[in-house]
This record gives sequence, structure tokens and C-alpha cells, in this order.
Amino acid sequence: MLNLGILISGRGSNMEAILKAIKRQKIPINPAIIISNNPDAMGLKIAQKMGIKTEVIASKNFDGTRWQYDQKIIKALEKHRVTPKNGLVCLAGFMRIISPEFISKYKNRIINIHPAILPSFPGLHAQKQALDYGVKFSGCTVHFVDSGVDTGPIILQEIVPVLDDDTEETLSRKILAKEHKAYVKAVRLVAEGKIKIAGRKTRNQGR
Ligand code: GAR
Repeated sequence: MLNLGILISGRGSNMEAILKAIKRQKIPINPAIIISNNPDAMGLKIAQKMGIKTEVIASKNFDGTRWQYDQKIIKALEKHRVTPKNGLVCLAGFMRIISPEFISKYKNRIINIHPAILPSFPGLHAQKQALDYGVKFSGCTVHFVDSGVDTGPIILQEIVPVLDDDTEETLSRKILAKEHKAYVKAVRLVAEGKIKIAGRKTRNQGR
């Protein structure tokens, strides 16, 4: 069974959805550690209440390189047996770019959720980017992390319609509800070994 590490920075609602699903829906993965770069992240309290171990590796005022910071994260992951061999790392609202060294060490072992249909609207404020562009559909994407910004092989996507009177807030709320479902589904597929990667494409072998 894989060991799961989840990296957060704030609210932690995707983390919470994943942790609840692991318990309720018996996803075959061990929730080993939640790591936050922000000591005030709400998600830390949620995880602690659920009896999951947490660590804070504060990034504010850290005066080393990106890789030096990531080495601290890796140390915490390894301490909880979330290794490149038998671990999965989920970025769940982790608002930091991670270093190429971290990505290559955990190759195809790090996944992320993004609140848009990639490759449209990568980076920050994806929901606002989609609204400003005037798209009629948006949604979310769960993907493996590679060295680009939101560019790795896509595991799955969910769409939501964008209505004329949607605001950034209403659209974000609709997308977030889909995110929770999509992230849980993706973690299950990866945990069950059903996702195969070929180049920049993935295949769901469980279908
Ligand atoms: C989510 O909407 C997630 O897609 C987004 O941050 C939010 C975190 O919410 N991530 C990104 O924009 C990454 N580029 P949560 O803390 O409640 O899971």
C-alpha cells in the first residue's frame, strides 16, 4: 500500500475530502502526513481532529534556496515513509512552486489539482482568468506534476458550466465541489495502480 503525504497552505478542503474518502470509501492508501508551509493553515486543525499527523515547515522568512526548502519537505515525507518508491504526494492548495530536484526525485509520484481545464488558465487565479476570458465551461484538472507550471500528464478533468451571472466566488464554489470529487477519484485510481503514464498521456487501466 502506498503512503500518502498531502501538502497544503490554507483551507485544506481538498485534503479533507481525500482523508474522509480514505476512511469512508476504504481507499487503499495510508494517510501518513500532512505538511503545511503556513503555520496558520486551517487544514492543519482539520487533519489533527481527524487524527492524522501534521508538520509545519514554514516558508515565510526561510532564507535558503527553493531546493533547500524542498529538502526539508522531503525529509519530513521520508520520516513518514512517503518515499519515491512507495509514496504519493498530493499538492492540495499548496501555494508554492516546487523545485525541479524535488519533482525529479519523486518522478510521477506527485499530483496536483488545478481549478481550470488545463492547458487553459494555468497559474494563479484560474477561476478569474476563465471568467475574464469569457469561456462557457470551466472546471478542474488533476495531473501529475512535471517541471512546468500545471503542465504534467492529466489524470482526469471535471467540467462546470459558466453562467452569465457567475462571479469569481460563485464559479470557484462550483468548481471546488467538483474538485473534491475529482481529487478523491484520482487518488483512488493511483492508489489502486490503475493509472499508466505514456509520454504526456495517462491511461486508466481500470476501465
Ligand atoms: C483549490 O481551489 C485548488 O484547486 C487551488 O487552491 C484551492 C485550495 O483549496 N489550487 C491552485 O490554484 C493551485 N494552482 P483547499 O485548500 O480548500 O483545498
